[in-house]
Amino acid sequence: MRLVLLGPPGVGKGTQGRHLAREHRWALISTGEMLREAVARQTPLGYEARKTMEAGLLVGDEVMIGLVRERSNDADAREGFVLDGFPRTVPQADALDSMLQARGQRLDAVLGFDAPREELVRRLSARRECPVCKRAYNLATAPPPDGGHCDDHPDTLLIQREDDSEATVRRRLEVYEAQTAPLLEYYRGQGRLRKVQAGGTVAEVYRSLAEALGCREESV
Ligand code: AP5
Repeated sequence: MRLVLLGPPGVGKGTQGRHLAREHRWALISTGEMLREAVARQTPLGYEARKTMEAGLLVGDEVMIGLVRERSNDADAREGFVLDGFPRTVPQADALDSMLQARGQRLDAVLGFDAPREELVRRLSARRECPVCKRAYNLATAPPPDGGHCDDHPDTLLIQREDDSEATVRRRLEVYEAQTAPLLEYYRGQGRLRKVQAGGTVAEVYRSLAEALGCREESV
C-alpha cells in the first residue's frame, strides 16, 4: 500500500503515520523529519533548508522531489510506504505520480486530515519531541511521565521545534491554505481522496483513519 497523509500542520499526520507504518511494516517517509535531520547534521541540504523552515515557508520543489525519489526507492519502502508531508504542491504531486508510474507502481489512497484551526495552534504550541526517536509528546494531551524526558530515552530532554512558535505556526497555516490545500481538489478529482476526521483524541482519529482505509486496525 502506498499512501499520502495530507493535512495542515499539527493535525496529527506524524502521530498517526508512525502508528500506521509500524502496524503494517510500511516505511514512514516524513519529509519534515528528513529535513530536520539534515539541519541537525549540518549537511549542505540542512544549510539550505534551515532558514526556510524556520520562517514557516516551503523548501523548493526540486529538492523535495529528489529526496523522495531516492528515499521511496529504498528496500524498506518496496512493499509500501506512508508519505507524511509530501506532496505539498501540485508540481510535487505531479512528480510523485510520474515517479511511481515509471516504476510500475501507483498511489493507493490519499488520507485528507482535518481539524479546527484553533485546535491545531493549541496542539503545536504544546508539542515537545524527543530529539533521539522523534516521538511527539504534548504538554496538554500526551505529557511525558516526568514532565520533560522521553519515555524510551530517559536521559534525553524533550525539545520544542524551532517552527512551533505561535507566529510561525500561523504562517505555516497560511502557507498550507495557499500551496497545499489545492491538493485536496487535485486528489478528489482523481477519486483518491479519503477524509479523516482529525479533531478528536488520538485513538478516535486512528479509528477514522482505519475506516477511511476500510481495514480493521488495532487501537493506539
Ligand atoms: P513537517 O514536519 O512536515 O510539518 P507539518 O506538515 O507542518 O506538520 P507537523 O509535523 O507540524 O504536524 P503533524 O500533522 O505531523 O502533527 P503531529 O502528529 O506532530 O514540515 C516542517 C517544514 O519542513 C515545513 O514547514 C517546510 O518548511 C519543510 N517541508 C517539509 N516537507 C516539505 C515539502 N514536501 N515541500 C516543501 N517543504 C517541506 O501532532 C502535533 C501535536 O499534537 C503533537 O504534540 C501531538 O502529540 C499532538 N496530537 C496529535 N494528534 C492529536 C490528537 N488527536 N489530539 C490531541 N493532540 C494530538
